[in-house]
Amino acid sequence: MDKNRSFVTADETSVFVREIDKQYPLLVRGEGAWLYDASGHAYLDAVSGGAMVTSLGHGAVPSISEAIQKQTEQVSFIYNVHATSPAQEQLARDIVSIAPEGFTRVHFVSGGTEANELALRMVRNYHVERGEAGRHVMVSPAQSYHGASIATFGLTGRNGLQSPYQPYIQQQEHISPATWLFDPSGETALKELDEILERVGGQVAAFLIEPVSAASLPGYSPPESFWRGLEERRQKHGFLVWFDEVVTGMGRTGTWFAADQMPIMPDIITTSKGLGAGYFPVGAMLVQEHVYQAVADGSRSFEPGHTWDGAPVSCAAGSAVINHLRKERLVESVGERGPRLLEDIRSALAGSEIVREVRGRGFLLGVSYVDPADGTSLLDPSLGVSRRIDETALKNSLLVYSTQPTRDGYAGDQTLLAPTFVATDSDLDQIVERLATTVAEVERQVKNELTHAKR
Ligand SMILES: Cc1ncc(COP(=O)(O)O)c(C=O)c1O
Repeated sequence: MDKNRSFVTADETSVFVREIDKQYPLLVRGEGAWLYDASGHAYLDAVSGGAMVTSLGHGAVPSISEAIQKQTEQVSFIYNVHATSPAQEQLARDIVSIAPEGFTRVHFVSGGTEANELALRMVRNYHVERGEAGRHVMVSPAQSYHGASIATFGLTGRNGLQSPYQPYIQQQEHISPATWLFDPSGETALKELDEILERVGGQVAAFLIEPVSAASLPGYSPPESFWRGLEERRQKHGFLVWFDEVVTGMGRTGTWFAADQMPIMPDIITTSKGLGAGYFPVGAMLVQEHVYQAVADGSRSFEPGHTWDGAPVSCAAGSAVINHLRKERLVESVGERGPRLLEDIRSALAGSEIVREVRGRGFLLGVSYVDPADGTSLLDPSLGVSRRIDETALKNSLLVYSTQPTRDGYAGDQTLLAPTFVATDSDLDQIVERLATTVAEVERQVKNELTHAKR
């Protein structure tokens, strides 16, 4: 263990840690894109707090702390079954004002999984309210992530995530991702969607997708033709389109919502991470007026039931975050600087034989790795490339987030980069430099092992 750094191991803590064999840096302070451990060692954060959350960076934003403090002093909590608060009213207005046209209603929750659970119930209620109770099937790309609850596990097709909870999970319908590996044109994905529609078309309630994927396929977005084909099928078959913008919402891809950049407008959007930006847990479900009208013209009641929905302090934090993003023009800054960051990573990794693709939008970028022997096959999972990338990056004082190959073979090793919006140009340059050093180090190890394995 490095003597100049502070770590906590499983046998030194009462916390039920995630990985028992891992050493966790003990972080005590942050400033912008930088995090400092208890020994004063500095880490450069390329994933906004590790989970694409702290888009405003680390450390104090006085207007946000003040808004939270003021709200706790006024009314810290009121259950929105009984009453509303100026904070909830304001955040709903703020979100409607930045949402794509047609989104008129917002319901708040505490996080991304909850937002998706809520939207799943909204989708079902929408059809029941309109007298189409037969619609209950959800369709989504298999290689996706929508949360850590039993219902949201059913919304991805990733066996690795679902095991060992399979007996509890309601399996939904999935299509293969339209990536370079399976289907660069998006035709196969549409064909698979057609097969589902042929089989259970009248039962399909919604198509759910991350418009730009986060950890499951970092920075990936389907080709234009896929979106157009999805729109045609929505019109023909009457299902809803729901965007999971838990990560992409609140400016991550350079516009307030990724939906602003897509050739199709969803009926429902869920969002969370950047809304509280790490200052407070808050998430939201946004719906188009026609979705709200289904309830307004029907039972006139939609009861989510979560205690923390629309809690005044969460909402005060959310509005303060939006005000700060607006005041500092941070969403515009991500839109302007994202393409250069993408190009810089591409050029820094251009010579690497294990890098297959660098992709993404705004400050949501991904690197995918392949076997250097043919530049196409996914690397053998036993090489543990994603784990090595994260460990080597940490050694190089860089925080990135890599995901390992999925059991169904939809994706190989990949690295996600999602810097804070306040990262300076020099921070971004250092992220690129440290990433390139890290990838080169891992590439050397991997090539060595592959050569030895052949002998
Ligand atoms: C696309 C997406 N949806 C949903 C979630 C779940 O959000 P949470 O962890 O806040 O419950 C995540 C979390 O990483 C995510 O990336």
